[in-house]
Amino acid sequence: MFGKKAESTKSSQQLPPFFQELADAASKSKTTPLSELFSSNPNRATEFCFRQGSLQFDFSKTHLDQPTLSLFAKLAEESGLLVERQKLLSGQVVNPTENRPALHTAMRASSPNEEIQAQHQANSKMAERVRSGEFKGASGTQYKHIIHLGIGGSALGPQLLLTALGFGRESEFNTHCVANVDGHALKPAMDACDPMQTLVIVASKTFTTTETLSNAHSLMKWMSEGGVADPKSQLVAVTASPEKSEEFGIAAENILTFPEGLGGRYSIWSSVSLVAMIVLGAPAFESFLRGAEQMDHHFATSPVEQNIPILAAMMDLWYGSSWHAETRAQFAYDSRLGALLPYLQQLEMENNGKNITRTGEQVNWQTSPVLWGGVGTDAQHAVFQLLHQGTHLVPTEFIAVIKAGHELEEHHRCLLTNCFAQGAALMKGRSTDEARDLLPESTEADTAELLAHSKTFSGNRPSTTILLDQLDAQSLGSLIAFYEHRSFVSGTLWQINVFDQMGVELGKELAKSYQEVLETGDFGSLDIDESTRNLLKQTLG
Ligand code: F6P
Repeated sequence: MFGKKAESTKSSQQLPPFFQELADAASKSKTTPLSELFSSNPNRATEFCFRQGSLQFDFSKTHLDQPTLSLFAKLAEESGLLVERQKLLSGQVVNPTENRPALHTAMRASSPNEEIQAQHQANSKMAERVRSGEFKGASGTQYKHIIHLGIGGSALGPQLLLTALGFGRESEFNTHCVANVDGHALKPAMDACDPMQTLVIVASKTFTTTETLSNAHSLMKWMSEGGVADPKSQLVAVTASPEKSEEFGIAAENILTFPEGLGGRYSIWSSVSLVAMIVLGAPAFESFLRGAEQMDHHFATSPVEQNIPILAAMMDLWYGSSWHAETRAQFAYDSRLGALLPYLQQLEMENNGKNITRTGEQVNWQTSPVLWGGVGTDAQHAVFQLLHQGTHLVPTEFIAVIKAGHELEEHHRCLLTNCFAQGAALMKGRSTDEARDLLPESTEADTAELLAHSKTFSGNRPSTTILLDQLDAQSLGSLIAFYEHRSFVSGTLWQINVFDQMGVELGKELAKSYQEVLETGDFGSLDIDESTRNLLKQTLG
């Protein structure tokens, strides 16, 4: 009923009592289709639509109703969520396996502590030094190219900032973000840049990540071969492990730090975004922080019934646990937000893709949905068939921006009408009788039945629409902070540790031992299955 039980560590965790209450509420809601919720309540469209700053969140096309909303408020109290929220926001330990706080909200406070303030100042100073040409490369002139190296949280944030906010902006810098250790990712950046005029930002929280360090070594070799006498002088490190980056050979004055308590997938608020600060300017980055702070304030102070991240998270829990939706789809109807999905996939799935509670018991319920999606309208012509007529229940989220960043108004109108039409179609559906009536009279009887059924849409499929007045640094900051809090709330209700990511370790360890095999050609006493051994042997030639 609640997802398959994995092998147990301790005794299985009992279903928290509120899961049953949610399931009961779901059984009732399942009897009322979404369109009926609208016809029975003329105020529904506004009653379940919430605004925060320049963002609007329309939950009216979900099965949320007033009794469920009240139930959510009760659950927030009874589950201990509000206490956990306070712990998060006041910098207490919320990551028990690593005994750390989670400092992303502290990073965007208008009055941060001295350490964070000094870090922000150092970041702005470095961005300005690069922008002004004071920090020069081997050519003795201003840098022209910037290669940002980093993976996961050390890449997805800057990539999102650059694609979301860089549209239509003239920049003096050609920027490249390289994450993968795949040479096919690194080589094009090398080919596009002049080593004498290239600044390399090496972003790694731990400064131990194989992909990032291998790419840094290869770029240093490339610079050296390109005539740069001291390649390391063209490297800037951004990290929470300054001692490791110094060991790597990066000069102390070229190291920008961030706190250990800031998770990799939350590091967009830190020096990890240096490349975006350089390209967009420090004031834009400051607005980004302020936008997030506004959402933090909303999350910290709004009553549960109006608290947008809490409501969205409760809906995730409700659709997951009680309606058995295993995935959530996310479609940005704005190409500038093309990098949002991978960003959110890391956030959501590293946060909540877990099966152990904060106290080490096996969970007995479904946790993080699989997050998938794409960009509209492209995705409409590729994967929407399943959303409309497939057998899975997929709560779907649309993100759109009212004001375009260009002057091609007709295109923007077409984009937005498509976005809104999808949510309406998912909800409304089309009966077989309606489908039959649409067929040309000349359709033969046998074919008519087949076609009428094929053109039937069950409808009653939930969606949420997030509408931004405009896409700018501030609204983007609010949007990302919304997702962070939503994911924290759902993870907390699932009783898991939102802030560690132990599940990424095993594969890394095995890859290291296989690397040794490839280097020495000797399997030695490696504990390895036959399939993997065969795959490695083929690589050995
Ligand atoms: O392997 C996953 C992970 O640890 C992410 O959590 C992190 O964002 C990414 O790798 C990169 O890590 P680092 O910033 O330490 O190089």
